[in-house]
Amino acid sequence: MPNNYDAAAWFYDGLAQLVFGKALINAQRFLVKHISAGKKILIVGGGTGWILEEIAAVCPSGLQLVYVEISAKMLHLSKQRNCGGNEVKFVHAGIGDYQIEQSFDVILTPFLFDNFAETRVRSVFRQLHLSLKPNGLWLLCDFQVEENFAGIWQKIILQTMYWFFGWLCSVETRKLICMDAFFRAENYRLLSEKTFYRGFVISQIYRSTKFSG
Ligand SMILES: C[S@@+](CC[C@H](N)C(=O)[O-])C[C@H]1O[C@@H](n2cnc3c(N)ncnc32)[C@H](O)[C@@H]1O
Repeated sequence: MPNNYDAAAWFYDGLAQLVFGKALINAQRFLVKHISAGKKILIVGGGTGWILEEIAAVCPSGLQLVYVEISAKMLHLSKQRNCGGNEVKFVHAGIGDYQIEQSFDVILTPFLFDNFAETRVRSVFRQLHLSLKPNGLWLLCDFQVEENFAGIWQKIILQTMYWFFGWLCSVETRKLICMDAFFRAENYRLLSEKTFYRGFVISQIYRSTKFSG
């Protein structure tokens, strides 16, 4: 199965911190701040699940979360997290194979789309877009390659990651798809964004502008 991080589950967080320090954590903390009580939240590709503890720190109870992860080992680690009083439904599936039966106030996709080839980006974006409530928030973070001098070292690190995780976890792409056009095409409003790790990581808060009914 492509993009499955089973083989990396035991060292993923350690390696991420070794290479990026706290940047990937801070990028997701920036997103989590926008979560408030009483919401239905979909998390796709949450990895080892530390984000569940970050969410509980911001919102200790009253959330209904659906947590979809393709890696059984990542899911196993996630289930051991302290989610506070929040209700979490853990789903072992690739998001494309998961029949979403409700709509969400918030969708969180942390470092998910950078694993996907363009066809999968397109289909998963569509699937999630249809599952987000009118006025809902889409919180995402991903890597980016800037079009300036920094783009040179960013491209080198990115290709090294693609080579390594392509080999170990069958990550299917070697090319980063820029997500902005997808959100623009569906008239999302960019509420806020912040970059980390000297521009290599970007966190964005989008609001859906679709109408209900
Ligand atoms: C790069 S890791 C990021 C993990 C976590 N978000 C973090 O930042 O620490 C991507 C995660 O997405 C999961 N994943 C990849 N494709 C997926 C899919 N189609 N559906 C659900 N999860 C997926 C992988 O198993 C992996 O845990």
